Amino acid sequence: MRGLFIALEGLDGSGKSFTATELKKSLEHNNYKVILTREPGGLPSAEAIRNTIMDYDIDPKTELLLYLAARRENLLHNVIPYLEQGYIVLCDRFFLSSIVYQGYARGLGMQEVRNLNHFVCDIYPDINIFIDTPIEICMERKRVAKDTNRFDFEKEQFHKKVKEGYEILLNQNQDNIFIVDGSLDVAERVDIISKIMVKYLCRIDNQLNKTKR
Ligand code: TYD
Repeated sequence: MRGLFIALEGLDGSGKSFTATELKKSLEHNNYKVILTREPGGLPSAEAIRNTIMDYDIDPKTELLLYLAARRENLLHNVIPYLEQGYIVLCDRFFLSSIVYQGYARGLGMQEVRNLNHFVCDIYPDINIFIDTPIEICMERKRVAKDTNRFDFEKEQFHKKVKEGYEILLNQNQDNIFIVDGSLDVAERVDIISKIMVKYLCRIDNQLNKTKR
């Protein structure tokens, strides 16, 4: 028995966390078992790592290793056990964030960061959702937000690099990434993601049927 693993990706302020919360409510309303977790964080050990990342101005390689450490904890405690029980696991950011933020925007190398993720991740998301919101909207949201961290005030240039990084991944077409327009109303975003999930499940079902005798 295996659940479904979905990661939500996007720029800071793209609305991905709100989308994740609303998606969870909608799925639960339809009687699905859902757990929502976030990276970095999701459980006390990983939240402690998150605080270190957020509170100190650290070297990009140190930062990457901390994200990976937090990912390992989250994966072992909040993702794998729930997938084994048939849950839908929603994760607010996962390995693609490291490839884009550390690998591309901070310049550590996308392939190098992908390789390091292989050391940490026993499994990967079935579906990655990229919430595609214009940079100006993301920056304005963060400017007026109450709950912010040191990354929320990076220069526009940095956000442009992050966006470019996601575009590179989309063009590489190897990570099962779906784009959802972040300027749509949240209910529409949830609806689109639900349809992506149904389509994915039908595809898997067909593949499984083909392997049956
Ligand atoms: P957070 O407050 O969760 O931002 P948001 O809600 O906008 O996603 O902060 C997470 C920050 O950490 C965000 O700037 C992206 C960054 N990040 C990385 O750089 N690499 C990673 O692997 C992950 C998971 C996050």
